[in-house]
Order: sequence, then structure tokens, then C-alpha cells
Amino acid sequence: MNGERILELEGVDLTSMRSMVLRFPELLVAKKPDSRFLERARRTGESGIDGICLVGMGGSSIAGEICRGLLLDQSSVPILTVKNYSLPNAVGRKWAVVVVSYSGDTEETLSSFEDARSRRATIFVITTGGTLAKRAQSASMHVVPKGLQPRAALPLMYSAVHPTVEALSGLEATDLERVATTLRQQAQDWGARADSPSTLAEKLKDSIPLFIGWKHLVPIAYRAKCQINENAKTVAFHSELPEADHNEIEAAMSYGRHSVVPVFLRSCFEESAIRRRFDVTSEVLSGAGCESIHLRIRTDSLLEESLAMTHFLDMTSVDLAERLGVDPLRVDRIAHLKKELAADA
Ligand code: PA5
Repeated sequence: MNGERILELEGVDLTSMRSMVLRFPELLVAKKPDSRFLERARRTGESGIDGICLVGMGGSSIAGEICRGLLLDQSSVPILTVKNYSLPNAVGRKWAVVVVSYSGDTEETLSSFEDARSRRATIFVITTGGTLAKRAQSASMHVVPKGLQPRAALPLMYSAVHPTVEALSGLEATDLERVATTLRQQAQDWGARADSPSTLAEKLKDSIPLFIGWKHLVPIAYRAKCQINENAKTVAFHSELPEADHNEIEAAMSYGRHSVVPVFLRSCFEESAIRRRFDVTSEVLSGAGCESIHLRIRTDSLLEESLAMTHFLDMTSVDLAERLGVDPLRVDRIAHLKKELAADA
């Protein structure tokens, strides 16, 4: 079964970002990496590696960021993420480098891929094709279906990155079918929530959202910012606790003036000190005349919480785009930049 056909079967309308985002749970289980790919990752991990480096830009970097946020505490080796032309000096022959590019043509990612090759690291490629697929002949490669916007392909890429990192770190494989079922149930409940993606989008329409996360939800805050930038073409920021309490909190007095709305991404897994910190931070903001939004998703696992919140906020970004009258699919400036820079190369 080829990639295009999977998308047809899943009923994804490739001309609608809303349709792509609605199918997030199905895309998470649409194309698993084959057993040879994962077996190579497991053997690489067993042979003894010094670290795992996850490479990608924009919509293709976020799978690595989320995965790192979730697995770093359990992994016996460091996990780095790289969004650049080259790899840190420490990455060498005994490293596994997972290179992700939806198009396979992103120049920073191709350059880091070459860097990994020159260091003789063990490389795993996740892509739809492009130059990366041509150059990756000797590396292990997982080909994902074409036709989506890269940022909408997150679940497709995540379903390869997560098991690859688990295999490299010798961790037990997670059942992503179960996660997809939870995501489907969560999405069915959106309408019944006081704070659905649509009510959140309405609240953010005339303001600048500041998404604030803790630990595994820091990449989710970053993803929400990027999705609002790319889909709704409007300004958004992200930050993290506890760090924001040591700097950003002093800017609270200016939030009202700039129409900044803090959106706290709350976790069911907050330790009591962190829970208290979120609450006190919110009180301080309120004292400065700035009311915050607290977003919670009730689930049993860190992974489900991360992905369900991503799905919710992805839909918020699409809803916001529609309210602002912009096309969430088009990324004209990104395309222009890529073209200009390629012409210079
Ligand atoms: O969402 C997007 O279109 C971008 O953020 C791209 O993901 C980014 O430019 C990198 O391209 P690719 O994902 O094809 O490597």
C-alpha cells in the first residue's frame, strides 16, 4: 500500500487544514515504521550509543522536541534536538542521528544529515522523499505519505520518531493504537467542554497568546505558538515554568497594554510544588490586571496528555485562522525564503 493511498483511505481532504487536523488520531496509526527499521534501531541501542540526536526544522522538528520532552527522563543516554545546519561537536560515531524532513528538501536538515554522515553516526531518516531520500540510500529510511502540510503531518512523523527513540534507548514500545483511541475520545468531548478549541480561538482573536508549559508540555507550548504563527498568521509566544518566574513575571504589568493573554498548559502530572507555582504565578498575573487561561486535558499518560493537548491546540490554531480570515494551508513567506536561499546556494 503506498502512502498516497493511505491518506485516501483515511479520508483526509488535502485542501483543508481543518480536515488534516481532525484526522490527527488516524494519522498517528496510519503508517508504522517496518520491523526492520525498528530492529536496526534496537540493535544500534544495544550495541552501546553515546546519545541520540534528533534533527529537523519547523513542522518536522516538533516530533523530536515532543519525544525528547517525554523520554529524556527515562533514556539512559542524552537526547539532543538540532534545528540547524550542523551538529554539536559531541555527536560522533557512537551516536544515533534521526533526521526528519517531511519534504526531504530542507537545506538545514540536508546539511546536518551530511554532517552526521561525515561523522559516521548511525542515521535513521524519516521523510516523504525529496533529496534526503535520494541521499539516504545506505541509511535506514521510513517513508511517510505525501500530500499533507508538514505541520499537519506531525502525527505521521511522531509515530515513527517515538518508537525509534524507544528502541534506541532500550525502552518498551508504547501502544500508539491505544493513544489514538484516547485522542479520538478526547476530540469527541471537545464540544462538551467549556473551553473547546473554538471558544479558546474566540478568546485569542484580538490578543497575543503566551503559551506557558512545564516539562513535557514545554514543547507543546512551543508547538502551539508555531501553529498559531503558521496557520493563523498571527503573533504568539511561548515560555516555560519555573524559568518564567525568574524573568518574564516582571513584565506582567505590560501584558494588558500589549493584549497578551497567558495560556497555562496544566498537567495532570504536576508535582505539588509545580502546581503551587502555576497557581501563585497566575495570582501574580491577576494582581497585575491580567487574567490567565488554564488548559487541562485529563488522561492517564504523559504521552496522551502531550498529544491530546497538541491536537486541541492545533484545532484552536485552525479555528483562529478561520476567524481571522486567513488560509491556514498557505505559508507563502516560508516558501519564498526557501526559494531565495536555494537560489543563493
Ligand atoms: O510547517 C511547515 O511548512 C514548515 O515549518 C516546514 O516543516 C519547515 O519549513 C521544514 O520543512 P520540512 O518539514 O519539509 O523539512
